[in-house]
Amino acid sequence: MIEKYSKLKFQDRKLGFTTEDASFTHYLHSYGTTEAKYFERKATPILEALTSEYRQVKLPIEFDVPLPPPEEPQFSFIDLFAGIGGFRIAFQELNGKCVFSSEWDKFSQKTYEANFGEVPFGDITKINEKEIPEHDILVAGFPCQPFSIAGVSKKNSLGRAHGFKDETQGTLFFDIKRIIKEKRPKAFLLENVKNLVSHDKGNTFKVIHKTLKKLRYNIHFQVLDGKYFVPQHRERIVIVGFDMERYGTNDRFQFPEMPDQTLAIEEILEPNPDPKYTLSDKLWKYLQDYSAKHKAKGNGFGFGLVQLDGIARTLSARYYKDGSEVLIPQDGQNPRRLTPRECARLQGFPDKFEIPVSDTQAYKQFGNSVVSPLMKSVGFNIVKELAKLDEHIRESHTISATI
Ligand SMILES: C[S@@+](CC[C@H](N)C(=O)[O-])C[C@H]1O[C@@H](n2cnc3c(N)ncnc32)[C@H](O)[C@@H]1O
Repeated sequence: MIEKYSKLKFQDRKLGFTTEDASFTHYLHSYGTTEAKYFERKATPILEALTSEYRQVKLPIEFDVPLPPPEEPQFSFIDLFAGIGGFRIAFQELNGKCVFSSEWDKFSQKTYEANFGEVPFGDITKINEKEIPEHDILVAGFPCQPFSIAGVSKKNSLGRAHGFKDETQGTLFFDIKRIIKEKRPKAFLLENVKNLVSHDKGNTFKVIHKTLKKLRYNIHFQVLDGKYFVPQHRERIVIVGFDMERYGTNDRFQFPEMPDQTLAIEEILEPNPDPKYTLSDKLWKYLQDYSAKHKAKGNGFGFGLVQLDGIARTLSARYYKDGSEVLIPQDGQNPRRLTPRECARLQGFPDKFEIPVSDTQAYKQFGNSVVSPLMKSVGFNIVKELAKLDEHIRESHTISATI
């Protein structure tokens, strides 16, 4: 008999989950709730095969994973462009239940499944919005390469389109739009690089803002820096919307005040990192020469040798290449790059978060991720505001029923 999630042995399987795996794990999470109907049909063959092998799969299953769902959830959310679940950690900590996730990268899916016991569905462009369960909050950190400074200059130099004109990555915002339009969550939280605001002389953001308003959501946005929660300078645009068809213009949402604390990178360093993270003489010389060359030309580019009592530059998804943006000085040795665990901490992930992939994949995954505690602080204010708004609606129903 199977009672625990770990007995399902997903870990033993080759990399590459199927849609059936996604349906099956979503079914396990939704068992006994109204959301189960969305996944049951595709989950049944796997459930039947397991039942004949093990006699019984005892439902609801116990999620013995590092980050199980909350026992008594207060709200539901969906996790789009989920990556490795930086948002999911934040919203589960706020007592939210994730009812749907989507992420197409197979290595990120592996990390996500190992930590949450759920295989995200794949390509969002192929997912019919009607097949997504109802939810209170939609959360999406949609791909930023089409809008980021590095992404735009690379695409320019290759003569490629960027922003919305980048047809594979730039139009994913419109997939978010079609899902919001169909499901009408009470609120949403979208996140992207700061450069989204100025991209294409502000036109890109204008289109996004206008599109969301046209869906009849009351929009708030602000650039927030992760440095108040982790020792990393990481500025992101955060867009929050509340459903005006449900709440009118009553929402008084405000972005959170940033905590007044000074963080130091030394607080997140591992005591005895493997020597393999120390830069080779060749790479260290290359980085120094490269920096000197650019300095001579008057350019600011250089490697980011961190002061141990200071904070790091923004970790990027290309950190695996040479680690140049965040280097840790070492006495009597070349500097070293961060270990994957240190990258996890730099994004505010708890140490119980499992890293089941290669260093290269882990660097990409954490570089793409969000500062989870910063998103939790925004999420806290959204949940608080929704509670007030829902209470207001309940009160006015009671009043009209008594009149
Ligand atoms: C900026 S990252 C978001 C990371 C996430 N917020 C986290 O905390 O890890 C964007 C993610 O979108 C995924 N993605 C890109 N195109 C996609 C698509 N068409 N369908 C599903 N996921 C996609 C990428 O693989 C990447 O992991």
